[in-house]
Amino acid sequence: MYLGSNEIKSLFHLDRNVTYLNHGSFGACPKELLNTQFNFQKELEKEPVKHLAFDIVKNLEKSRIALSHYVNCDKDDVVYFPNPSTALNTVLRSLKLEKEDEVLSTNHEYGAMDKAWNYLSKKIGFKYINQKISVPLTTKDFFIKEFFKGITKKTRVIFLSHITSPTGLIFPIKEICKIAREKKIITIIDGAHVPGHIKLDLKKLNADFYSGACHKWMCSPKGVAFLYSNKNLQHLIEPLVISWGYDSENASSSQLLDYLQWQGTNDISAYLTIPETINFLKKNNWNEKAKKCRELNLWAVNKMQQELSLKPLANSHFIGQMSSYLFDFKGDLLSNQLEFYKKYKIQIPFFSWNDNTLFRISVQAYNNKEEIEYFIHCFKDHFKANI
Ligand SMILES: Cc1ncc(COP(=O)(O)O)c(C=O)c1O
Repeated sequence: MYLGSNEIKSLFHLDRNVTYLNHGSFGACPKELLNTQFNFQKELEKEPVKHLAFDIVKNLEKSRIALSHYVNCDKDDVVYFPNPSTALNTVLRSLKLEKEDEVLSTNHEYGAMDKAWNYLSKKIGFKYINQKISVPLTTKDFFIKEFFKGITKKTRVIFLSHITSPTGLIFPIKEICKIAREKKIITIIDGAHVPGHIKLDLKKLNADFYSGACHKWMCSPKGVAFLYSNKNLQHLIEPLVISWGYDSENASSSQLLDYLQWQGTNDISAYLTIPETINFLKKNNWNEKAKKCRELNLWAVNKMQQELSLKPLANSHFIGQMSSYLFDFKGDLLSNQLEFYKKYKIQIPFFSWNDNTLFRISVQAYNNKEEIEYFIHCFKDHFKANI
């Protein structure tokens, strides 16, 4: 059955009076998946000990099996976390980097992850390098050449977003991981925006560590992300929180799972919804919808150019369901974003990025052309005095 964008929006709790062009920040969850989560919570409360002590390993395994099929990896190479920040911080804090080492990244990374690296770099003394990747991004070769200008004999880690947060670009991760492996450099990939957005095949990608969020583009309930670790490097990973799985009396065959799966009492109901989340995506032909969203996003890219003279940050093959636009702006960005939201009821993020200002649109199955046209109209109205 074909559902229009308004009918799809009614599958979610999203406010119909708000033009929601910011799926990228926190996702949005369909009503039926929230019900699934609530059912797990009720089960937990019926018998907390059975649920959290007796059944947890089996239940989490069932969920990991579904996830591992979805992202193509072995079920014990992947473990749940509440968000990518915690998953990635676990990896960062585990690697024993030294003063002389270098970590190569780009100037398109997510701000909180830059902060995590800068914190460690200050503490330990290694260099965290945000290599400049120029926009507009034209070809993969151009990216690879520019990125590897930052490599030296001291580079021990490459840290890259698979889809970038401020600029909304899909980076050529497979190619980078291949080169890094030949050079014996560890790869840590921040794939927060990837699951449910573009196809993810962890075996083919062959990164050392990869984190993705399920609550963004897979639309699961909030608080589900995962960490994948290549088998060869699992022994390096230490938990941020030491709990029962450390030096365990009942050790399983996986140290990764023992160390990371239980980090104290927590509501794991969102983790358990993943098989149903994947079912939801399948039964609603989400791959097909994602393809249509990308087409709509590329239509928006053209419209922004025609109507606002704002150029895309890359050729179309680097663009998925998000697109960002640099614009001239002077003033207080955050208060303008709030004012813009209050005036027009449009939810869209504005970012400061490398001394520039940009906004980013996200296109999900509940969005349509009229919303993008409405945004353009409001942008002209609001910023004509400021830009
Ligand atoms: C590229 C990227 N990495 C990591 C994160 C971290 O997400 P969280 O704050 O949920 O841990 C985000 C969140 O939007 C992101 O866009």
